[in-house]
Amino acid sequence: MATAEQIKSLLRSHVDRDDQRFYSIALQMAAQEARQGHHKLAGDIKAMVEKSQKTATLGLATSKPTPLLQQPKGDLKGLLELTNSPVRSSELVLTGEIRERLDQVLLEQRQKDKLAQFDLFPRRKLLFTGPPGTGKTMSAAVLATELKLPLYTIVLDSLITRFMGETAAKLRLVFDHIQQTRAVYLFDEFDAIGTQRGAQNDVGEIRRVLNSFLLFVEQDNSESVIVAATNHPELLDKALYRRFDDIIRFEKPGKEQIRELIQNRLTLFETAPLAWDQISSAAEGLSAAEVARASEDAAKEAVLHQKGHISSSLIIKAIERRHAGNK
Ligand SMILES: Nc1ncnc2c1ncn2[C@@H]1O[C@H](COP(=O)(O)OP(=O)(O)OP(=O)(O)O)[C@@H](O)[C@H]1O
Ligand SMILES: [Mg+2]
Repeated sequence: MATAEQIKSLLRSHVDRDDQRFYSIALQMAAQEARQGHHKLAGDIKAMVEKSQKTATLGLATSKPTPLLQQPKGDLKGLLELTNSPVRSSELVLTGEIRERLDQVLLEQRQKDKLAQFDLFPRRKLLFTGPPGTGKTMSAAVLATELKLPLYTIVLDSLITRFMGETAAKLRLVFDHIQQTRAVYLFDEFDAIGTQRGAQNDVGEIRRVLNSFLLFVEQDNSESVIVAATNHPELLDKALYRRFDDIIRFEKPGKEQIRELIQNRLTLFETAPLAWDQISSAAEGLSAAEVARASEDAAKEAVLHQKGHISSSLIIKAIERRHAGNK
């Protein structure tokens, strides 16, 4: 029989409209039934999933034409990059407070017409700070997916390197695009400007670029969502903070988030008997990205060497390898 955990995950994935997850949990249940000798039930579940996946794909093909979005051409080529991989909100594991801040952005964006009736504007200039691998880039993708907007990424550092001397003019082109095409614009590795440049480089140019970037952000009155991401907020001028509608500080996952991250990666395995307290304690201090990778390492090990059986010690071993890699 399906476990209570599986039934809850199944419902959660339905509520989140996460079809991929829904199907994978259903298949996991089928596999479990098959192991217990309930082959008829297992076969029925599998057939239902396959049939429903087929109809879903057909429905998508007929009812939703893909938008005609292409990589920017001409002057904008190499400045803006269109990212085309949807990331669902349910894949993101965050502490309650950070999740609430992101949800607030989504809510205000979705209700922007209602706000406009009262001369109010949705939050749309965001600064994401926090250590590497905590979900900043991923969250920008989630905003785009959930708001059904395209995601454009601008790597400021490479913009400076490639267009030394004319970066401010190039930035103007980027901000013209922001004005003309409503989308989520992620200025990623925003901190690279401040940190990776030594005296041998043109510091004056970098300062000019940062200043014009800030000026552009301040003057922008488009309907796009602008996200600047950094992992060195302490290097940024405090004056910069005023230009953003919200600053979201991402953190390394706590015990609860660690468990969720691992469970999300191991939906096809039997995880009920795992020693979660021990596992979560072992993983404390790792970033979400590292926890996710450790889970994948453990899953591979289970498939290749343990006949598909995952165990606490396999996961803890993979976690310890990630810790060792950080030293
Ligand atoms: N909060 C999270 N929830 C779920 N998965 C996460 C989370 N954070 C990171 N990951 C996993 O790690 C990968 C890398 O994360 P991401 O690129 O968003 O980190 P980042 O905060 O932007 O890091 P950096 O500062 O290095 O750019 C993601 O694609 C995802 O697989
Ligand atoms: Mg990033």
